[in-house]
Amino acid sequence: MKYQIPKGLFDILPYSKESFKETFRWQYLESVIKKLMGDYNFEEIRVPIFEKTDLFLRGVGEITDIASKELYTFLDKAKRSMSLRPEGTASVMRAFIENNLSQEKKLHKLYYTGPMFRYDRPQKGRYRQHHQLGIEVIGEKSFEIDAEVIDMLITLFKRLEIKHFKLLINSIGDFETRTNYKKALLDFLKPNFENLSEESQARFDKNPMRILDSKDERDKKILKEVPSILDFLSSSAKKHFENLLNLLDKLDIKYEVDSKLVRGLDYYDDTVFEIISEKTGAQNSLGGGGRYNSLLKSLGGPDLPGIGFACGLERILQTMIEEDVYFPKKKGPFIYIIPIGEDAKEYAIILAKDLRHHKISVDIDLNAKKIQKSLSLADKLNAKNALILADNEMNQKVASFKNLEKREQNEIKFEDLKNFIKNKFYKL
Ligand code: HAM
Repeated sequence: MKYQIPKGLFDILPYSKESFKETFRWQYLESVIKKLMGDYNFEEIRVPIFEKTDLFLRGVGEITDIASKELYTFLDKAKRSMSLRPEGTASVMRAFIENNLSQEKKLHKLYYTGPMFRYDRPQKGRYRQHHQLGIEVIGEKSFEIDAEVIDMLITLFKRLEIKHFKLLINSIGDFETRTNYKKALLDFLKPNFENLSEESQARFDKNPMRILDSKDERDKKILKEVPSILDFLSSSAKKHFENLLNLLDKLDIKYEVDSKLVRGLDYYDDTVFEIISEKTGAQNSLGGGGRYNSLLKSLGGPDLPGIGFACGLERILQTMIEEDVYFPKKKGPFIYIIPIGEDAKEYAIILAKDLRHHKISVDIDLNAKKIQKSLSLADKLNAKNALILADNEMNQKVASFKNLEKREQNEIKFEDLKNFIKNKFYKL
C-alpha cells in the first residue's frame, strides 16, 4: 500500500478487530472521565500539542529519557525549535503562568485529555502517539490534597471496574533529601559499577536515582540491599508522608510503599505514586504522578506548589478488555427505515428528515431489497427499531414498526406514524 500510518501510531475506528481501537470504547472511557472530573470539581484546560522545545527541556528535565531521547522536535519555517508535547504538565504550567491564572483564585484543579508524543521503541502498551488523562492541582501543599488526588485516581479505576491493579507510593523528599540520598546511593553502587547493566552505568553520573527502577535482573539483584530514601527524609517530608499514609488508611485506599519508586520525570518532590496493572505485561504502568513544589517557580512563575498525575488511556482500555469489564453497547439509531421500491424510498427520506428535526436518530437502508437482509443490517447497527415500508405497506398506507429488542411488531397507519414514533422515543 502506498500510504501507511507512521510506526507506533494507530487509528481509532468505528470497527476494528483490536477492541481497544474501537471508538465507542474510547467514548465510554471519556464519558466516565468527564463525570469523575465534575464530581471532584476539576475544570478542563486545553493546551496546544506543540510548544517551544525549550519548555520541555526545562520543564520535564534535560537529563530525563523523555526530553533527551524521545522528543519529536522540528524547526518551524522561521527556524525556531518546536516539539510535540511528550506530556502535559510543562504546557499546563506555561499556560498557568502566561495567563496569570494565579490571580483568579488560590486553588486550581485542572484536567486535560489528549494525545502525547514520545519517540520510543513501539510495543504493546507503548506508542509514539498515546493519549493521556492528566490532572494538576496548583496552590496547595497539604497532604490532604495528595490524598484527594490519589483517591480520584483510584475512583477512576473502580468506576471502570478494573480490579487487578496496585497503588505504589513513595516519598522522594525535598532537594536536600535527594542530594544526601544520591551521595549514599552512589557510594553503595560504586563497588558494583561493573556489574550494573549498561543503561544503569550510563545513568550513574547523570541520573542515578533512575537506576532504582531498573527492570534489569542484574540491577535488581544489586539493588536488593540499597539504602532506602525514606531513611533520608527531612522531618517535614517525613511528617507529610506519614500523614498522607494515615489518611489513605482512613479512606480505605490500599497501597504499597515502594522506596524504589522514583518516576521518570525531573520535577517531583515528596509524594510520588504509580498505578500498575497486575494483568498486562511489561508496560504495566497505567498512570502515575506526584508532587512538584518548585516547578512553577523554575519556569518563571509564582512560587506555588502543585501535584498531579497522568494515565495512559490505551493501557487503561487494554486492561479493561483483558479484565473483560463491562462496556455499554455501541449505540445505534433509534429507527432503521427499510424502504423497498422508489416510492417507499422517497417517503422514507421525507419521514427521516422530520424525525431528525425532532432529534430522533434515524438511518435508512437506501439499498434495501430483501427485508430479512436489511433487518440483519439493522441488528448489526444496534438499531432499536426497524420501520418496514414494502409494496404491501405503501399500497395500504401502513408501516410495520418492529421493536428489535422485544421482537414485537405493530402496523401503524401513515397518518399516525410520526406521533407514534415520537411517543415511543420520548417515553424512553
Ligand atoms: P508519565 O508516567 O510519563 O507521567 O506518563 C503517564 C502515563 O502515560 C503512564 O503511566 C502510561 O500509562 C502512559 N504512557 C506514557 N508513555 C506512553 C507511551 N509511549 N505509550 C502509551 N502510554 C504511555 C507524565 O506524563 C506526567 N506528566 C504525569 C504528571 C502529571 N505528574 C504530575 N502531573
